[in-house]
Amino acid sequence: MANILVLHGPNLNLLGTREPEVYGRQTLEEINEVLNELAAGRQAALRFFQSNHEGALIDAMHEARGWANGLLINPGALTHTSIALRDAIAAVGLPAVEVHLSNIYAREPFRHHSVLAPVCLGQISGFGRRSYTLGLLALLDHLQENK
Ligand code: DQA
Repeated sequence: MANILVLHGPNLNLLGTREPEVYGRQTLEEINEVLNELAAGRQAALRFFQSNHEGALIDAMHEARGWANGLLINPGALTHTSIALRDAIAAVGLPAVEVHLSNIYAREPFRHHSVLAPVCLGQISGFGRRSYTLGLLALLDHLQENK
């Protein structure tokens, strides 16, 4: 049984109504539900945490050291700025997959760089809500192969 912390960063609580032409019409709850269904079929258990605060996301990662096998994270805008979040991923040492609903490389130049990507297993960007399901599958496959 793999235990996964799913982290959603700033402004993702507004999914569904937030710039739907960019991020789609699905709410965060709907995305989490689909992830739960996927996890159930793969003998994985998910815990979800969304925060608009960098420190709260870091605290959640520290706490996950006690129970999680991996992290699925959409860091929102912190992707592009947060050395503290990057250091937290490196510090906890849990395999992490970074996901983005939008294709960050097809958007404004300030979104083209992720400071977190180098400490993640990989990144999935641009597939809308499917970025999350693809990211979870990649993470679970990785954990399975590296038991
Ligand atoms: C995002 C992309 C970020 O650039 C942006 O700040 C977000 C969402 C995405 O999922 O596409 O908040 O991470």
